[in-house]
Amino acid sequence: MRKKIIAGNWKMNYTLSQAEEFVTSIVKQINVDDIDVVLCPNFVSLDRVYDLICQTNVKLGAQNVHYEDKGAYTGETSIDMLISAGVEYCIVGHSERRQYFNETDEIVNKKVKKIIEKDLKAILCVGETLEQRNNNEMFKVVEDQLVKDLKDITKEQIKRNIIIAYEPIWAIGTGVTATSMQAQEMCKFIRSTIAKMYNENIAENIRIQYGGSVKASNAKELLSMEDIDGALVGGASLTNDFVAIVTVSYTHL
Ligand code: PGA
Repeated sequence: MRKKIIAGNWKMNYTLSQAEEFVTSIVKQINVDDIDVVLCPNFVSLDRVYDLICQTNVKLGAQNVHYEDKGAYTGETSIDMLISAGVEYCIVGHSERRQYFNETDEIVNKKVKKIIEKDLKAILCVGETLEQRNNNEMFKVVEDQLVKDLKDITKEQIKRNIIIAYEPIWAIGTGVTATSMQAQEMCKFIRSTIAKMYNENIAENIRIQYGGSVKASNAKELLSMEDIDGALVGGASLTNDFVAIVTVSYTHL
C-alpha cells in the first residue's frame, strides 16, 4: 500500500503575516497521520511556517534549491539553508522553473542529486505541453524527462528519496484539469517507465502525484485512480480547499 501524499505548492504567494495567518487557520485540520501532508511556502516564510507545524505531522517543503553547496550565487538558496529551516521535501523541475528560468533536465538532475545527497525527499515534476499532447508526443516527452532527470540515481536512492509529480503543463493554473483517465493513463505509464529503468518492485512502491488544477471538487475522483498516489496542489492550496482535499484523501480512500 502506497501512502498518499498531498503537497501544497504556494508558488509566489503570501507574505510572512499572510502565511502565518493561513497556516494557523488550517493546521489542526490538516494534521493527519494516514497520509503525508506537505506545505511548500516561499523561502521567506519557511522558518515561520515550520514553527507552526513542527509539533504536528505536517511536513515542510521548499519550491526550489540550488545544486551547489554555497558560494557566489546571488539570489540562490542552498540545501543546508533549507535543512536549517526544517525542510524535508523539495519540489524540483516544476514546469514554471523549466519555462521561465530555463531549467534544463541537466540542471534538474543536479538538483535531484543534491537533494538525495542530503537525504531530503525530491518531488520531481514532469509533464508535457498542450502542443506535445496534441501531437501525441506526451509519452515520449515524459519518458525522456524521467530518463534525464533521474540519470545516475540508484535503486536505493529512488526508493528512499523520490516522489514523482505528473503535471501536464496545459492543466497548471488554467482551471482545466486532466480527466481522471488521462491522469491515470500517464501515471501508469510513468510507473511502467520506472519499472523499465529500475525494477517492478521499485515501480510498485514509488509514489506518483497528479498536479494541475486539483480542487476539492475533483480530488476524490483523481485520487481514486489506481496509479495516482497524491496531489501537488497549486492555487487550491492557498485556500480552505486544501483542507477539503486532504480530508477527501484520507477519509474516502
Ligand atoms: P495549480 O498548480 O493547482 O494551480 O494548477 C499546480 C502546480 O503547479 O503544482
